[in-house]
This record gives sequence, C-alpha cells and structure tokens, in this order.
Amino acid sequence: MAQLWGGRFTKETDKLVYNFNASISFDQKFYRQDIEGSMAHVRMLAKQEILTEEEENQILSGLEGILRDIENGTLRITDEYEDIHSFVEANLIARIGDAGKKLHTGRSRNDQVALDMKLYIRHEVVEINALLKELLENILAIMEDNTATYMPGFTHLQKAQPITLAHHMGAYFEMFKRDRQRLDDIYDRMNYCPLGSGALAGTTYPLDRAYTAQLLDFNGPTLNSMDSVADRDYVIELLSALSTIMMHLSRFSEEIIIWNSNEYHFVEIDDAYATGSSIMPQKKNPDIAELVRGKTGRVYGALMSILTTMKGIPLAYNKDMQEDKELTFDAIDTVKGCVALFTGMLKTLKFNKDVMKTSAMKGFTNATDAADYLVNHGVPFRDAHGIIGRLVLYCIEKDKAIDALSLDELKAISPVFEQDIYEAVSLETCVNKRMTIGAPGPDAMKEVIRIHKEYLSLS
Ligand code: ARG
Repeated sequence: MAQLWGGRFTKETDKLVYNFNASISFDQKFYRQDIEGSMAHVRMLAKQEILTEEEENQILSGLEGILRDIENGTLRITDEYEDIHSFVEANLIARIGDAGKKLHTGRSRNDQVALDMKLYIRHEVVEINALLKELLENILAIMEDNTATYMPGFTHLQKAQPITLAHHMGAYFEMFKRDRQRLDDIYDRMNYCPLGSGALAGTTYPLDRAYTAQLLDFNGPTLNSMDSVADRDYVIELLSALSTIMMHLSRFSEEIIIWNSNEYHFVEIDDAYATGSSIMPQKKNPDIAELVRGKTGRVYGALMSILTTMKGIPLAYNKDMQEDKELTFDAIDTVKGCVALFTGMLKTLKFNKDVMKTSAMKGFTNATDAADYLVNHGVPFRDAHGIIGRLVLYCIEKDKAIDALSLDELKAISPVFEQDIYEAVSLETCVNKRMTIGAPGPDAMKEVIRIHKEYLSLS
C-alpha cells in the first residue's frame, strides 16, 4: 500500500478500505493520458519559472522513460499503488529523485483525473467516429449496388409499399451519420482543459492555464475551477451518444436476424460471422447480430448508472465520481467491438435479391399504387381505397398478386381498369414514381448517394 497522503495519518489504512478505495485496477487504462497531461503541466511550470529548466528536463525524461517502459512491458502497473496518478508519481521519484517530488506543484488529483478522463474520452471519440465511418462506407457500397433491388418496405412488420435495398440501407446511413455528428458535438463541447483548477479553487501559483490547454490541443482552459473538477456531463453525453449508436445497431441487428430467418430468407450471413448448434446440425445462427442486440443493455446500463451517481453530489469533487470510469470504459469497448463486428458481418452479408423481389410482389405492396391508378382515372380516393380493398380480398382468395389477375378479373371489380394497370402497379413503376428527394426512386437515390459520398470524403 503506497499512498500520496500519509502525512496526516497515524494509522495504516485498513486493507479492505484500501482495496475498496483504490482505482488502479481500472484507471491504469489511461496511463498514457496521465503521463501526457503531466508532461504538459511540467512544461507550463517551467515556462512560468515555477520549475527550472533542469528540473523540467529531468521530469520529462523520467516520464518518457516510464511511458516507454510501461509500453514495452518492463514496467508493470501493480495494485501496490492506489491509482495511476500515484503510480506514475512514485515511479518518477524512484527514478529521478527530488525533482520528481515537484511534479504535482499547482495540481490536485481532482483536476488531474478530470483531465485524464477528458483526454481518454476525446481519443476514444475519434476512434469510434472512424469505426462508424467505415460502417457508413460499407452501407454506401450496398446502396450503390442496389438502387434497383426491390424489396417490401414494412410498417408494423407487415408488407407496406415497395422500396429498394438501397433505400432501406439509406435509412441506416442517416442514423449512423447523425451518431457521428453527435460525437463531433461532444468533442467540441468537452474540449476545454480543466488542469490548473486544483482541488476546487484554483491555485496560488502563477500558472498559465491557456498554455497548458494549448499544449494538449484543447480550445482553451475551463472557466470555473469548481465546475472543472465536478463536471462529468461529457461522460453522460458520451454514454448517451453510445446508447443511441447501440440502439441503431440493435435495430439493424434485429432486421438481419429476421431477414436471416427461414421464413424470410432475405439474407445469408457469411459462415465466418455465423455460429452452429451443438445439437442441431442444420443450424446456422445469427449470434453476432444477437450479441450486438444484447450488448445494448450494458451500454444503456452505464448511462443510467452515471446519471444516478451524479444526481445528488454537492459541489465540487466527491469520491462518488470515481464510479464514472469502469462503466464508461466498458461501454466504449463494447461499442467499438460491436461496430467493428457489425461492419464485418454487413460487408460479407449476401442478399437474396430474388427472394426479396418475390416477397415485394406477393405482399400487395403495390396496393397504394393501384388505388392511385383509380384516382388518376377520376375515382375519389376513399372509393378507390374500398375498391382495392375488395381486390386484395379477391387476390387472397385466389392466392394471386394484383398484377397476376386477368384484365377481365380486374374489370369485374372496377370497370375503370385498363391494360395500362399492369405497368402502373409493377414494382419498377411503384419505385420509380417515388422520385422526390428522400424517396426510393432511382434518381432521388442517386442524388442522395452523391451527397453521402461527398460527406464521407469531407469527414
Ligand atoms: N481515483 C480518483 C477518481 O477517479 C482520483 C481523484 C482522487 N481525488 C481525491 N480527492 N480523492 O476520481
């Protein structure tokens, strides 16, 4: 048990208390950010002549050595230290002696941990954003190939109107694009440096907080030292954005699971992304999609957890806030894993285009267009709706699609039908006539694809 704060105490900490309080088992995850933050702090202290140049150089090379040795495996982070901050400081002092004892001048672990968490989250936000970009590129590739791949669009999981696979995929493109924008917003909003806020009330040293912020690529220093050490909004915003990403992935997964079912058979999951059953030899299960759907719960759980932890904490720092880490790290790792695996599964997914087309033809997805045909020939819409309803009933009885009926059969239901009805209710026509931006018509789709390409090339 090695602690930074033994001076005021006359007794050893109880071992159980030590373990309960310690965070090294999880905050070692941001050792790199902790060291980078310390380096910037030391540079600023030297610039302000609070440290000498010699002390600065000694500390910097000590910190570089610690970073190098952690990364090459020669320095192991052990639970002999309470947290990563103590670990780094103790090692620094062991390596360079007295100069190391000056590292913590004008700093508290409260502003230090706030900085580390921000640096870590900022880094992960960029990584998740890049993973989402890769997912979007794959969605866009499917869109480009499938502007004429017909399938039923659903409402209430009932076949509704014909769409294309490009159009269906396009819906997910929009969702993941907004997810990326949310991450960008979070990055911008959180990108202010808390270092120099001290424990809660700033420090008496003449720090140059703007300089530290600049060294660490922040937009500037935070403007209230109490808020700086007590703020975890950015963690909550991140977990909220991650929850939304998981919600989108989960819906997409659910669709793939449905499409992969024996009844739908719209898609075939690649062998590399499917699993078998230990007892039923015929099975090929969509476990990856199911796991992505299932893991959504843990990410939502992290959001609920931190919201609840933060709700009753008086200003400024309280130890409750140490609880922000494990769940956030887990949520970040979960989302990264899910996005990457989902992208791989999507990339290798085979679409049974004939099955999709037949399904669209068989499900009366052209019934609205048949009603529109009557309206275009002078029948009031409400009457047309009734006529097509009777027509659908007749088709169900005969087990036929609308366009599989003879003109005589059609005329028996309404004399308004003429030969051109077949063309009017073909899947191609139904889709092609929906040409306003956002609709599945091929011209509208091509314009959207062009916009998406431009977006991906710029972001
Ligand atoms: N491990 C602590 C945390 O994660 C670091 C800050 C400790 N500060 C303190 N005043 N005990 O929040």
